[in-house]
Parts: sequence; structure tokens; C-alpha cells
Amino acid sequence: MKILVTGGSGQLGSYLLEELCDGHEVRSIDIRMPSIECNKRLVSNVDIRDPVGAARACDGVEAVVHAAAQVSVEKSIQDPRMDADVNVIGTLSMLKASADADVRKFVYISSAAVYGDPRHLPVDEDHPKHPKSFYGVSKLAAEAYVQAFAECRGLNYIIVRPFNFYSPRADPKSPYSGVITKFVERAKEGSPLLIEGDGEQTRDFIHAKDVARMIRMAVESSARDVTLNCGSGQATSINDLAETLSALRGGLRIEHVKSRVGDIRHSVSDVTLAKKVLGFQSKITLEQGLSSFL
Ligand SMILES: NC(=O)c1ccc[n+]([C@@H]2O[C@H](COP(=O)([O-])OP(=O)(O)OC[C@H]3O[C@@H](n4cnc5c(N)ncnc54)[C@H](O)[C@@H]3O)[C@@H](O)[C@H]2O)c1
Repeated sequence: MKILVTGGSGQLGSYLLEELCDGHEVRSIDIRMPSIECNKRLVSNVDIRDPVGAARACDGVEAVVHAAAQVSVEKSIQDPRMDADVNVIGTLSMLKASADADVRKFVYISSAAVYGDPRHLPVDEDHPKHPKSFYGVSKLAAEAYVQAFAECRGLNYIIVRPFNFYSPRADPKSPYSGVITKFVERAKEGSPLLIEGDGEQTRDFIHAKDVARMIRMAVESSARDVTLNCGSGQATSINDLAETLSALRGGLRIEHVKSRVGDIRHSVSDVTLAKKVLGFQSKITLEQGLSSFL
């Protein structure tokens, strides 16, 4: 299958290119070049908001995986217009180009941020959507456009909502990197791991490689017009995460600092539907995933 991946220079995009290249003809667009050497020949410098570039990228393509996005919650709060421009207008541009090119399937990488504070656990796909940030709003608005393109233009879609994914390819210098990346960086420099609050808050961590594998299954499956959570289905407390990393490193100092205002207390995905529709289950345990950093 000929597949276009947007955001191929990003963390998830880099695993997607590796996963999909095995058996498919893959190309990608991004506004920066990839750091992974073998992906460099696959990525062209195109902004998803550029309709001409998007149309050219979609020409002759059978499936589009749209992973490019402005991914920072903090940046979305500082500059909601920029966030909406990339995540809503950019998605709209990719949808229009895909429909015009008669693309058979559009796989949109959304986010668990669309749910906001969980009202019940685990969080299933029908859980109410009350995003707590402009980032969550822009991802939810983009989902609505994806669904409207199915109605108005007959574009088949699968929406994937990842929970917290991680990998050694997340940018450690980014102030917006996730807790695992932050912990690993501090462990490497010999600094104590800083836990915000009591550490009993939970998250659903999944390795980016597993996320890429689920997206491959979504591209290849005959399923259409469905929205699926993507997680491990396991709730891990930040205390347990710190202890696991400490055990792998032969002991680390752990300190508690002030909790973050507005932080979600517990989050874990209901992964029943992804298993039913695609047969997907995450394979990489947190311990295996953390070992790959060290
Ligand atoms: N990291 C997580 O835990 C997480 C969780 C849920 C959902 N997601 C979603 O997964 C996707 C990938 O996230 P990631 O963590 O790999 O982020 P990332 O920042 O590593 O990758 C995103 C890529 O999009 C590119 N991009 C940004 N604006 C663009 C534009 N205008 N035109 C073309 N390319 C552009 C960036 O250059 C980057 O390479 C995003 O859609 C994100 O919203 C991430």
C-alpha cells in the first residue's frame, strides 16, 4: 500500500516510518528533518497547512496517517491561535487533500487529552469529552472534522486516541517532555527523581513502538469509521514508576515536590474496543520499555 505519514520526523512518526516501511511504500512530510538517519530519504519538508504541498503529498496515496501536530499543552495555553492553526487548520488541509486524492483510509492520531478529568475509570471511548486545555480542544475539533469528512466526502477513517506514550526518542531538551523522559534524564545526571505531589496519581504508559504497531494494524484492517483508545490498560502510579526506574538503575534518590495545579489525578484507558476491532494489545512492559532507555 502507498502510505503518507505526516509528522515523520517526530517521536511517534519515526517509529511509524520503521513499522510501515516493512511491507508498504511510505513517504512522509514534516517541517523539520528527522534525526534518524535512515528516515531522511523518506521525509519532505512540507507544512501540513500548505494546501498545495498537502495535495502534492497525497497524490497517488492509498492511506494517510496524520500524526503531525503541535503537541505541547503549555504552548497551547500560551498561544491558542497557533495551536488551532496547526492542529485544526492543518488537519483540515490534510483531510481536503486526502478526499480530493481519493485516499481510501485516513488514520488520525488524536489524544486522550480530549477526555479531560476522568468521570469513570477505565476511560472508554464513549466517556464524556471535556478537554482541560486548548490542545485537547484542538484535537477534539480535528476529530469532528475527520468525522464530517466521512459524512460529506465519504472519506473512511480510524481515529486513534493514545494515552501517555514514551520512548528514548522523545526530545529530552523539550520543557514539555513527559515524566518518563524527565526521570530518565535526571537518573542519567545523578540527580534525584522529583515526584510532584504524593506520587499516587496514575497514568497509562505505552511505548511509542506499540502505538506505531497499533496504527499499522489500523491502516491494514478493513475496519472503518471507528474511534479507538490506544493504551496499555494498566494504571501505573508515579511512585511505582520511580521505584521501577530506581530498581533498574541500582537505586536512585526520590524527592517529593509541590503538586502541579490542574493535574489529572488518575488516568487509565479501556482497551477493550481496540482489542475487539484490531486484535491489538500492547506488548512492551514498562520495565522492558524503561530498560531500553538505559
Ligand atoms: N506524546 C504523547 O504522549 C502523545 C499522547 C497522545 C497523542 N499524541 C499525538 O501523537 C502525535 C505525535 O506526537 P509525538 O509525541 O510524536 O510529537 P512530536 O512533536 O515528536 O512529533 C510531531 C511532529 O509533527 C511535526 N509538525 C508540527 N507542526 C507541523 C506542521 N505544521 N507541518 C508539518 N509537520 C509538523 C513536528 O515537526 C514533529 O516532527 C501528535 O498528533 C500528538 O498530538 C502524543
